[in-house]
Amino acid sequence: MNRILPKRIAAILFHFLIRIVYFCNALKNTMLPNSELILAIESSCDDTAAAVLNGRKVLSNCIANQTVHKAYGGVVPELASRAHQSKIVPVVQQALVQANIDKNDLTAIAYTQGPGLLGSLLVGSAFAKSFALSLNVPLIPINHMQGHLLVHFIEENGINTPTFPFLGITVSGGHTQLVLVKNHFEMNVLGTTLDDAIGEAFDKCGKRMGLDYPSGPQIDKLAQTGNPKRFQFPIPNMKGYDVSYSGVKTAFTNFIHKQTQNDSNFIHENLNDLCASLQYTLVQIILNKIEQVASENQLNQIVIGGGVAANSELRNQLLARKESHHWEVFLPPLKYTTDNAAMIGITAYYKLQEKQFGKLTDASKSRLTY
Ligand code: KG4
Ligand code: ZN
Repeated sequence: MNRILPKRIAAILFHFLIRIVYFCNALKNTMLPNSELILAIESSCDDTAAAVLNGRKVLSNCIANQTVHKAYGGVVPELASRAHQSKIVPVVQQALVQANIDKNDLTAIAYTQGPGLLGSLLVGSAFAKSFALSLNVPLIPINHMQGHLLVHFIEENGINTPTFPFLGITVSGGHTQLVLVKNHFEMNVLGTTLDDAIGEAFDKCGKRMGLDYPSGPQIDKLAQTGNPKRFQFPIPNMKGYDVSYSGVKTAFTNFIHKQTQNDSNFIHENLNDLCASLQYTLVQIILNKIEQVASENQLNQIVIGGGVAANSELRNQLLARKESHHWEVFLPPLKYTTDNAAMIGITAYYKLQEKQFGKLTDASKSRLTY
């Protein structure tokens, strides 16, 4: 009896201690100034991501990359959906824990409605809808491409926020767009790629050189010690504000094919120069268009977003033109360039202010315009 008593007392004390910790956490979260806690979920392609934002501040930003696609040299949609299913619960859990938030304190749940791979989108939307329903909080469907541009509105050291209107450039694996951004939700596409996206061109040419998917970051790295003028590839000049990337992809593929027929070591011996020359060409195509669109529309704030916004050549070339073109250039921190859920959360923040909520019957869309 005497032995059991201290154990009981310890158990009761421990129980109270846990309750106090929970209470303090809850108190801390409800005491956050203008507390608006958004859980955001992104599952449009091959990254399962979840983030928690308090207003415009990112409390956590978690991503589970899917390595399963590496062996195939590109994203396999069916495998992506399956991987999302196994990763979404742990990633959301991680985001809540890192943000030190109890799920019952959430104000709203946001998810990517499109564009993207339908099976992947469905996993995120089904999860978000069920979670919002069980917690009885509003649901906010988000356009992935708007998210890529609105990362510049996250409140964080090192992020400068542009003023409206500005020229938004989305450069990713699926999109290459020049967008007139009038406000957080009114965005008009002025020009777009007529075929491949810039990230797709990086990835497909990289695959031709035997690089792993996604090849963009590797080409960027290898190009650092290569000569960008060593090999020349065509830079198309499309009419109007559109761009095209399939021509340079074909020219590059044919060139590699021809050279390797004469010398099987050609890629290996010239890899850095090939990467630098290819990267130079791909970046030059979009740069030329940015210059034209900016000058003809008197837009001097150039705001980039999307995975290829991580590219060092693109970032450097934009900064190099700042003075002569009187531009203000807005480059996102690298962690907010490739797909992430913080970008979904910040877009949801603005929808929350206007009470633009979604319904359980909203459909995911593989294609979604602004
Ligand atoms: O935005 P994102 O993560 O996914 C889509 O919405 O598509 O972009 C992925 C794309 C891939 O094509 C990848 O190769 C490219 O972004 N990428 C890069 C770099 N980092 C990612 N391309 C060139 N240089 C980089 N440093
Ligand atoms: Zn993206």
